[in-house]
Amino acid sequence: RQNLTIIGGGSTYTLGMMMSLIAEKENLPLKSVRFYDIDGERQRLNAEATAILLKEKYPEVEEFIYTTNREEAFVDTDIFFIQIRTGGLEMRERDEQIALSHGCVGQETCGAGGMAYGLRSIGDMIDLVDDIRKYSPDAWILNYTNPAAIVAEALNQALPNDKKILNICDMPCVIMESYAKMLDCELWDLVPDYYGLNHYGWFRKVYNREGEDLTQRIKDIILEKGLQASAVDIAHDQSWQTTFKNMKMMLEDNPQFLPSTYLQYYLYPEQMVAKEDINNTRARQVINGREKTVFDMCQRIVDSGTTAYENLHADVHGIYMVRVAASALFNKGEKYLVIVQNNGVISNLQEDAMVEVPAAVMSHGVEPYSVGKIPTFQKAMIETQLGFEKLVVDAWFEGSRQDLVNALTLNRTVVNVQTAKQLVDEILEENKQYLPQF
Ligand code: G6P
Ligand code: MN
Repeated sequence: RQNLTIIGGGSTYTLGMMMSLIAEKENLPLKSVRFYDIDGERQRLNAEATAILLKEKYPEVEEFIYTTNREEAFVDTDIFFIQIRTGGLEMRERDEQIALSHGCVGQETCGAGGMAYGLRSIGDMIDLVDDIRKYSPDAWILNYTNPAAIVAEALNQALPNDKKILNICDMPCVIMESYAKMLDCELWDLVPDYYGLNHYGWFRKVYNREGEDLTQRIKDIILEKGLQASAVDIAHDQSWQTTFKNMKMMLEDNPQFLPSTYLQYYLYPEQMVAKEDINNTRARQVINGREKTVFDMCQRIVDSGTTAYENLHADVHGIYMVRVAASALFNKGEKYLVIVQNNGVISNLQEDAMVEVPAAVMSHGVEPYSVGKIPTFQKAMIETQLGFEKLVVDAWFEGSRQDLVNALTLNRTVVNVQTAKQLVDEILEENKQYLPQF
């Protein structure tokens, strides 16, 4: 049985992740669970509710602790889940507002918003992994901190020989969950042929386990009825429903492949900006919505001493993460979509790109499946975005403003150099305390 440490124990996703661990306890049996966070107060409520939940639904867990002490949290761990947010949702809101005030996309993983958040995340992530390796040199690290593409690139540059850090995103599986729903099957029945960068990829094909090609059926249904977000966590979220609805427009405009939801920010930046409200950005909605709902629920669990009255559920993306972890820990070699160094997987793309592709997840590392040559349009799109990501990471290491301006110039959500310069100035000013190198 395994020892798990969750870094970012105060996250609104923690309780949901616990439900996924409970649902998957046979796949990934745990002996101990530890929470670590720099914000002990924020973590405490999650942890007190989790203690009650574990007692009720996972009594096999012998030890559960929560701490702000790294040594205590990091020693003797088999697997780490990392879900941090440097600067919190307040800074996410500032990122969005700065970008929107220049008429640009502020979303936390795209363009100017993604750049700002990436710059804040890189230092904390490298520092965390350094400390993890002091205390648990062989542990698996599953990271889903955003912006995952930039974080993955930075970690790969900082720690190129660490083969047990796995960056992973839930979006491909959440999209597949929606396909599964409309095909009346389960996510686990679907086998994706997908490639790209994180939040910037395409499903070339989708098969079922029997090898039947379902791609055209999926396209036909989306073109006819659109796509609905069906994962429980987001099914009733207006913003996510809108995001999924736009898949129809993307497919009408280019029916070649099934796109990632996030491509809409790059393909229709003006429309995406136009429907934003600078005083009620996504961060604000999460602060007033999910954050409140989750922490109110934790408080009720703590007050009543039971989870019996709460509608807690495991969601597909949590289960996906847990299954990836189990495949790594127990050398199952199961196929999942993860972010890895290209090394020829996409044969006509540079070797050192961090790409999102299917890979067999094994105990010594991941072995991606070959994608082969990709078409000119997708290749050029990816290379432009990759240029953005790499320049942001270079800028962080070198303290180069020019790299940041160049990065935003390449990004499809900005392009104009003068806008790029203004954005860089404002973002660096706002993030001074996080970025002494500039
Ligand atoms: C999806 C993405 C994540 C992102 C999250 C944000 O799950 O894959 O990368 O962090 O959406 O969701 P939110 O509800 O906070 O806007
Ligand atoms: Mn993601």
